[in-house]
Amino acid sequence: MKRRAPRRDGPPAKSLRLPPASLTDPARAGRFVHRLIATTLAHLKKDGRARVYSGAGVRDLARLFGGPLPERGRPVPRVLAEFRDRILRHSLQTSHRRIFGLLHPIPLPVAAAAETAAALLNQSTDAWKAGPAATQVEVRLVRWLNDRIGYGPQAFGVFTSGGGVANLLALKMARDRAIGGRARRQGIPRRLAGRLRVYASAQSHFSIPRAVDLVGLGTDSLVLVPVDRDMKMIPDRLDEMVRRDRRRGLVPVAVVATAGTTSTGNIDPIRAIAAVARRHGMHHHVDAAYGGAVIVSDRHRGLLRGLETADSVTIDPHKWLFQPISLGGLFVRDGRALAAAFRTEPDYLRKDLEREAGRLDFYHYSLEGSRPFRGLKLWLTIQAIGTEGLASLVDRTMVLASALVRKVERRPAFERYPAAVETTTCCVRFLPRWARRLSPRARRTPAIRRRLDRLQLHIQHTLETTGYAWFPPTVLQGTVWLRLGIFNYLTTPTDIEAVLDRIERVGSSGG
Ligand SMILES: Cc1ncc(COP(=O)(O)O)c(C=O)c1O
Repeated sequence: MKRRAPRRDGPPAKSLRLPPASLTDPARAGRFVHRLIATTLAHLKKDGRARVYSGAGVRDLARLFGGPLPERGRPVPRVLAEFRDRILRHSLQTSHRRIFGLLHPIPLPVAAAAETAAALLNQSTDAWKAGPAATQVEVRLVRWLNDRIGYGPQAFGVFTSGGGVANLLALKMARDRAIGGRARRQGIPRRLAGRLRVYASAQSHFSIPRAVDLVGLGTDSLVLVPVDRDMKMIPDRLDEMVRRDRRRGLVPVAVVATAGTTSTGNIDPIRAIAAVARRHGMHHHVDAAYGGAVIVSDRHRGLLRGLETADSVTIDPHKWLFQPISLGGLFVRDGRALAAAFRTEPDYLRKDLEREAGRLDFYHYSLEGSRPFRGLKLWLTIQAIGTEGLASLVDRTMVLASALVRKVERRPAFERYPAAVETTTCCVRFLPRWARRLSPRARRTPAIRRRLDRLQLHIQHTLETTGYAWFPPTVLQGTVWLRLGIFNYLTTPTDIEAVLDRIERVGSSGG
């Protein structure tokens, strides 16, 4: 029996229940867009009086969001009310001045507004023809950051969704450099399997082992180099470890220095590590996802001395340059190496079919295909407040961090983690009266340490669930510390005092 072809046109258009033009036609959707933004801004204005977080737990929110999704659109006032009562109410109030240690608190409103514009424009910065101005803006911003790093004319780079992806791109470059171009076709040759090594400090970010895994080396190939008292990689130990590995027939591929460790904000000695990398022919990557922000500040860029000697650098403007998520970036001394690791050309993007064959397509430099116009927010930020304005906000957080350190050191109830505070992170522990009477050594005995650890967690959980303030705990050398970092340029010295007071109060009653 002959089968009838299915009807392609479906029911007549008139019978389709299409959503209203006020939500689907950009020319008529302005009212909705404005109301949504106004509702969000009104929520952010509550700072100071509001809780940092509602305190709702996983079960509460799973129940709240677990119901059926609407089949039919609801009236706009109801949509906005749901947004306010469910999403806003149970979101972390990132504009709150008593948020500490969150690497991405409130972004600059100008940058956040730019993000909305970028979404409406929906340029894709993978191919020039899908985002002409967008591509050129990102090229310009990459050049600005490369100039600040101190790279020369061969430098290039690409914006990414974050530091983790930028680190992955860097290790892909490093792998291909070590093995040669054939790695892209053949993977890791059998003679090198299990013999390639990547070095990073014991304080490096978890995205490094993840990247090592993803580029096919396996996490066993990551060698953790010890750090000194200031949480910095020890270059002599790096050198020793590489020499030892080479004697054993292993092949060093890359060393990753961290500029701004996640837990304490410390910066590895970049120049000394570069010298070791050169000596052993390794790719030198600097993960400056956090600390790279100081590159914009004339006062503080000296902290990154030697950055220009690295082969590649990760910098995340969505951390300490006050941009909304997502905006990370990889910057490389020689753009050709980045292209060699990612270049590809599908038929539908063939350059020889284009009107201008020399147009730059960012997909040749990244693992992403479709890419949002991430650069717009940074570009509009700089247009609106200038590079100096951006630097002044970094400088302000540095001033606040110094104030935090001074205030902590003045209070006998606090112990500060002894690493130098180089950027804006200061890790502290509350010491109840009984613990203050013990020597630091006695406080490190396992039973006392466990008791003090429990107390720090009690403090952290109490402040989080009551919504008074927000800061994460971290573990340093087996001990729990409270990570108080300043990333919110709206925080004031009074907020710092208030949080230290509250930690003391909760700690004194809970110990
Ligand atoms: C040092 C460092 N590198 C990389 C990352 C990863 O960045 P992202 O979360 O943007 O991928 C972080 C995140 O905190 C970090 O602190």
